[in-house]
Amino acid sequence: MKITLKIWRQKNKETKGSFKTYSLDHVSPDMSFLEMLDVLNNDLILKGEESIAFDHDCREGICGTCSLYINGRPHGPLQTTTCQLHMRSFSDGETITIEPWRAKAFPVIRDLVVDRTAFERIQQAGGYVSVNTGGVPDANEILIPKKIADEAFDAAACIGCGACVAACKNASAMLFVSAKISQLALLPQGRPERKERAEKMVAQMDKEGFGACTNTGACEAECPKAISLTNIARMNREYFSASISSYEVQSKGGD
Ligand code: SF4
Ligand code: FES
Repeated sequence: MKITLKIWRQKNKETKGSFKTYSLDHVSPDMSFLEMLDVLNNDLILKGEESIAFDHDCREGICGTCSLYINGRPHGPLQTTTCQLHMRSFSDGETITIEPWRAKAFPVIRDLVVDRTAFERIQQAGGYVSVNTGGVPDANEILIPKKIADEAFDAAACIGCGACVAACKNASAMLFVSAKISQLALLPQGRPERKERAEKMVAQMDKEGFGACTNTGACEAECPKAISLTNIARMNREYFSASISSYEVQSKGGD
């Protein structure tokens, strides 16, 4: 395959970026998208030019680092991660535009790499269970209905890639945060800290500068792990009930 690539190049956070055009004429349809970029980088290095920085790690759809905005869609034309996308999804002779995630809370570090530590800080604010739960219990000791276990597992499938933020016109992180809140709120082990967790994670999300949710559903449509919008509804319920109980404690003179 022959392809033309329009790639965002940016030296660092402070410098202004721009698109640069490259041609590749030895692309196999069976290459993954990232392998195609490896070939391009190899060519650039052999020519003595600066290679293109892009994030990747596992290359098997698990780590969530391969954050590329391809032809106007996060992770490209398929609902999968960029590392699981293959060149056969494009046509011979096609021009492909590659950009970094665009969001105020995800500043560009270099070329196609953005800083997603805002997600880490949201997790650190409350996305964990800190109570002492003792040793590993027998699998049948705490019975969890299959439907609930499946819902918690589906929420836990979020890989923190940030495609939901990149897809949203408001750069909202609500799908990500709601998945992280849901996976714990649904299970008995996550209940002791559920109120505090919802309040702290939502507060951190706002502090990081992510936008509000206006229910367009672009996040769900582009999420490579099919995280459902129902998690956002659950997060809103968790947050609302946490706010009510904080208000009750305050009005009774508690802290
Ligand atoms: S909700 Fe989906 S799109 Fe958003 S970070 Fe998680 S896996 Fe990625
Ligand atoms: S490189 Fe890990 S999900 Fe793509």
